[in-house]
Amino acid sequence: METELNRLVSALCTSASVLQGALNDENVPSFRSDDPSPHPCDGGIPPPSAWYARKALVGLCHQIIALVQDPLERSIIDFTSFNVSSSINAVTRTRPTVAEVVLSTGSKGIAMKNLAENTGLNETKLCTAAASMLGEAAKTPSDSQHSSPFALYHHIELYDWVKAHPEQIRPFGRAMDTAEKILDPGFVLDLPVQDLGPKVTLVDVGSGVGGLSMQLMKRNPGWKLVLQDQQVLIPQMEAFWKKDVPEIVESGRVTFLGHSFFEPAPLPPAPEDSPYVFMIKSVLHNWPDDLAAKILENLLPAAPPGTVLMIVNYTPAEPEPSKTTVEEFFRRIDKHSMAEIQEAKIPLPDLLGVGWGFGDASGMHIAL
Ligand SMILES: C[S@@+](CC[C@H](N)C(=O)[O-])C[C@H]1O[C@@H](n2cnc3c(N)ncnc32)[C@H](O)[C@@H]1O
Repeated sequence: METELNRLVSALCTSASVLQGALNDENVPSFRSDDPSPHPCDGGIPPPSAWYARKALVGLCHQIIALVQDPLERSIIDFTSFNVSSSINAVTRTRPTVAEVVLSTGSKGIAMKNLAENTGLNETKLCTAAASMLGEAAKTPSDSQHSSPFALYHHIELYDWVKAHPEQIRPFGRAMDTAEKILDPGFVLDLPVQDLGPKVTLVDVGSGVGGLSMQLMKRNPGWKLVLQDQQVLIPQMEAFWKKDVPEIVESGRVTFLGHSFFEPAPLPPAPEDSPYVFMIKSVLHNWPDDLAAKILENLLPAAPPGTVLMIVNYTPAEPEPSKTTVEEFFRRIDKHSMAEIQEAKIPLPDLLGVGWGFGDASGMHIAL
């Protein structure tokens, strides 16, 4: 009899062999738990089969856990998961860090007592508590009259808090850039940018350091770019671009605009041969509905009819039931580029569209 568990395990085996095959094809090493160096598939743009297979494996493991684990045990683990982030905070702030001490001992390992002595941490106090008021915030409407979960807890809105803590600006920018590298390698290929033409002026609204825009600028030498964010972030954005792509900065293709998107965009009319294309990525979910609408309205003065707006965001979605099997899906995407896969609109098998593995609708909706 085919049980739910059998189906998941069989999809898991298929995904594992697709991943191994893709690694072999690319001539890159297998994953090893005893090798802390970054794997070649981490970051950057991976081959599509490896990308999908990795996500599938993670998503399927989550589904198997959800299926077989005692719900009470699971809920206790989920409830206490804040310990992970507070522990990471504790163990990375020591000098040397916990990771540095552990790695320096090689395969011998180190006793907790010695680890505590070497890092100055109390052996029994590696965790600190964090708190969330999400439950309370979940009951209120999405509008600017009601506080966000962050403000309910900290009595200040997130970006006002960042502004009031200039020492947090660098870590915040780094966190956004890292999150982008982890979550978004497929974005650059998913965006329908090939239709935009060889000459546009891309305006990245609430750009942060603008990692995705940087990838787009590298691929489109005729494009110009305006990176728009809060004035306090501009020095960090400039430094990021000067370090990674000095030639783009020196050529004048990128400009940095410190401006609040709650005011009308102060942009001159776009050059006739290089129209504005507005991109707003991972921003709208941060704001209640009325303020999200205001951000978009404020682009209108600089957007004549026909201007393109690209909203790049994880959105909650209920996937349509799909008849595609896991084997068939991997067979159809084999050796194709991400752009070809998107173009072919191959439906994701139901088993692969679920779970954090895809960092998709369901996973990100919960996270945000
Ligand atoms: C979640 S981050 C997204 C950054 C970037 N688009 C990305 O995808 O990595 C949201 C961005 O909105 C910016 N932001 C917040 N309030 C703003 C405001 N009033 N005007 C302009 N940008 C703002 C923040 O500084 C931050 O860089």
